[in-house]
Parts: sequence; C-alpha cells; structure tokens
Amino acid sequence: MARYSWIALRCAIALASFFLVGCNKEGTSPAWEVPGATVPANFPAPVYAAAQNPPTREAYELGRTLFYDTRLSRTGAVSCGSCHQQSGAFANADHRLSQGVEGRLGARNAPALQNLRWKTSLLWDGGATHIETMPLAPITDPREMDETLDNVLQKLNADPAYQQRFAQVYGERPITSYQFLRTLAQFTAALTSANSRYDHYVRHEANGALSAAELRGWPQHARSAHLVTAASYLRTSRFAITVWTLRSPPIRAAPISRGVPRTQVASKYPACVM
Ligand code: HEC
Repeated sequence: MARYSWIALRCAIALASFFLVGCNKEGTSPAWEVPGATVPANFPAPVYAAAQNPPTREAYELGRTLFYDTRLSRTGAVSCGSCHQQSGAFANADHRLSQGVEGRLGARNAPALQNLRWKTSLLWDGGATHIETMPLAPITDPREMDETLDNVLQKLNADPAYQQRFAQVYGERPITSYQFLRTLAQFTAALTSANSRYDHYVRHEANGALSAAELRGWPQHARSAHLVTAASYLRTSRFAITVWTLRSPPIRAAPISRGVPRTQVASKYPACVM
C-alpha cells in the first residue's frame, strides 16, 4: 500500500511540475527585453532613437543572425562577426589591419562596435553618418565582403528560414534592402556599453564604488573628456584621427584639420596638452 502511495505522490509531483513549468512559459516569466532598448540613465538622448526602428525580439535576433551570416560575403567565408568579434568588444584584437575575403588586407582595423545609437559619425574618419546604410560599405568593399546588395537579397530570398523570419517581422515578401538594412541595425544599435563600474559610479548605484586610487585618477579621466570635447569643437569629419593627432607625441605645430592651429585648440582646452 505504501508503495502505491509513493507512486501516487510521484505522479502528483510530476503533474504539478508540468503545470508549474507550463505557467512559467506562458505567462509569469519576466518579459525579455531587447538589449539596448532602454537609454541608460547617465547617457544623453540617442541620435538614432529607438522610435526610429522600434526594437523587437524577433527583429533583434534576426539582425544577430544576419551579422553572423557568412553568405553576406561573395565567398561565403566572411561575416560581419569575422572582423567584429564579440570577445574583443566587437573589434578585431589580433590583426593590425582587417582581413576580408581571400585574406585581402584592408586599410584599417575593425573598431569596437558599441553605443552606435549615440554616434553622429561612424568609421575612423567619420565618413559615414547613418547606422542603417553604413553596412553597405563593408558588404561591397572588395577588400572586405566583396558582394553586391542584389546578390545578398537573392541569397536571403532563396532561404525559406529567412523568408519566414522576415515575414514574421515585416509581414511582406520578398525581403527588400530596406528590411535587410533595418534588421541589421536592430542588432548593431543594441550593442550598448553602460555596465562598467564607472557607469555604476556616475549613476550612484550600489556596485559602483571607485577606489581611492581610481578617484585620484579622476583628473586624468576629465582630460579624456576634454579631448572628446575638443574634437567635437573642431567639427571635423576626422574625429578619431584628430584625437589621435592631439594625443600623439611629439606635438606638431602644424595646423590640424580645417586650418585650426593646434595652439588655438590647446589654449581653449589646456587639458589637451599632454
Ligand atoms: C573585413 C573586415 C570587416 C567586415 C567583414 C565588416 N567590417 Fe565593419 N568595419 C571594419 C573596419 C576596418 C572598419 C573601420 C573602417 C574605417 O574606418 O574606414 C569598420 C567599421 C564599422 C562600423 C563603424 C563603427 C564606428 O564606431 O565608427 C560599423 C557600424 C561596422 N563596421 C559594422 C559592420 C557590419 C554591420 C558588417 C557586416 C555587414 C561589417 N561591419 C563587416 C571591418 C569590417
């Protein structure tokens, strides 16, 4: 008899857990928030507002699949993720110059992809301004993916899994360049770096304590902020290169970008003199 009660008890537990798991899946589990969908409290308003391309789970995950799909390249061997590696903050840490199809070397290396939603200009020289259209550059560059947009769309439209996933997001077929580029931007715009101890500190959060030594380093940090301000002040498209020029010794007396003499910048931003 005891044996039968034991079996009954086990059945009851199994049944109860079935319903509990079911409930969890159906209703009570917390909503899955798309990464980067919320503006961190210490960040300004984004340049590429979420309302411009409202983040959804399906579109974000589809964008992530595209980012890692080597079919975006002519040879089928290179994806966005080949150069922008997650383990290196979506930069490429082990090459000096990026390597595209057939090992072709680019002119520069892949930068980290982070907080792109807040950037007014992209690329090392600020040569691109829109997060949605920017991927056309690596896709068509012969040293990177060496492919055409038409071919990419043909490949996507020939894949039933992509047909289904795009239709789930946009409800229309065939897959268009608009849908493709917007979906890719769902992923790249989501890459937000706002979880460092520094971020916690400035947001006055519990886990944001800085050590005495780190706090002593604050003036140094302020100096970097000045550098960025100086670069914005110059209103130059050579954003990153200008900052590098300002920082790199020996200091050059020659005018930099748009004829603003370095000394003039330095007097306005004394902290730039390093
Ligand atoms: C062969 C390597 C390579 C591939 C593949 C590649 N990139 Fe890049 N990416 C780079 C390099 C190099 C730069 C910097 C280029 C420059 O400044 O001229 C860059 C820059 C960028 C930037 C600008 C980042 C910033 O902060 O300014 C974005 C965004 C980007 N890539 C997204 C993508 C996406 C999306 C794909 C896939 C469609 C892709 N990349 C494929 C090498 C690559």
